[in-house]
Amino acid sequence: MRLTSNMEIQKVKTIDLESLKQKLNSMSLFSQLSSDDLKGLVEKSSLRQFKAGSVICREGEYGDTAFAIINGSVEVSINTAGYKNLTLALLGEGNIFGEMAALSGYPRSATVSAFTNVEVLQVLKEDFNMLLNADSKLAEGIEDIIMERKLRTLKVQKDPSKSERLQALVEKGIIQAESLLIIDLKTCIHCNNCVDACEDRHGYPRLDRRGTRVPDVSIPVACRLCHDPVCLICNFDAIKRAPTGEINIIDDKCVGCAGCAIRCPYNVIQMVPSKPEHELKKFNIISALLKGAKESDNKTPKDRKIKPKHLAIKCDNCLGYHDTACTNNCPTYAIRWVNPMEYFGDTEDLIPKMEKYQ
Ligand code: CMP
Repeated sequence: MRLTSNMEIQKVKTIDLESLKQKLNSMSLFSQLSSDDLKGLVEKSSLRQFKAGSVICREGEYGDTAFAIINGSVEVSINTAGYKNLTLALLGEGNIFGEMAALSGYPRSATVSAFTNVEVLQVLKEDFNMLLNADSKLAEGIEDIIMERKLRTLKVQKDPSKSERLQALVEKGIIQAESLLIIDLKTCIHCNNCVDACEDRHGYPRLDRRGTRVPDVSIPVACRLCHDPVCLICNFDAIKRAPTGEINIIDDKCVGCAGCAIRCPYNVIQMVPSKPEHELKKFNIISALLKGAKESDNKTPKDRKIKPKHLAIKCDNCLGYHDTACTNNCPTYAIRWVNPMEYFGDTEDLIPKMEKYQ
């Protein structure tokens, strides 16, 4: 296997052969393949990395490769016959694309671009064909996918508002979230326990139940753990991403400039008054006299600098706790964290789901 990158990207997870095999095995399409077939597939393919926004294959061009998404997601759109940038679908990890041209020899039916930084396994059409000839189940699975996609394209071409709805979900940052807090409106009893529990734990509620509505689901204002978070650009190094993905504000470093709050497109970061003076650790003159301590001994780093009037706060998925307060205190389990691509059944399925309620 070769590792190629035609677009420099900064943050990429490189994968060894064994974990790549495991990853393919976890994709429903390839899960039936024998260990030898998987090994063969991995060895003959190239792992390629694309930066968000770059085009992987272009509508109308000939192509002799198919791709499997290993990390990240791609956007599929058409731009011909009067359709300007009509988004057909967003495809996440475990999906394939490029299979149509690779199998038919016709030009690419759509443009596929990296929606996030993405890692794909590129398979040559000869190897892809060999695999399909060896495994009839896989061949049938691919045929079904192609049929569904062709149908979907026809539907979207007939009614471009389907594409607009999909783009609206993208604009609201719903699809690109790595993890999304949702409230199932079929089971929510509006008791507000989630918000109260958040406030009890953190001092201020970091969660607002009144967020974006999609059918049957409310998406509260809470951190979306974006793939590429713009809030992390902080001149004071006061906002960090933990290795486990959570994004948190370091109070001691926050100067209350509101830069992150302005940058966050989803209004997840709020500016709140710093804790009132009586809640701060104060120099205690009596105990200092008794212990012979100096004033400076009793100062926290916070006390040494001028305290900002406001601090940024945001949901950090209860980083450092063993549970999340909002979800753990919901009596009906209506609020929970989901992977949006999985929860909405990939956006290829989301369109019909949304239609049902419109
Ligand atoms: P291909 O035609 O080779 O190149 C563009 C790819 O976009 C195509 O293969 C499919 O993999 C994918 N594609 C085309 N139409 C759709 C659709 N309606 N939904 C999802 N993916 C699609």
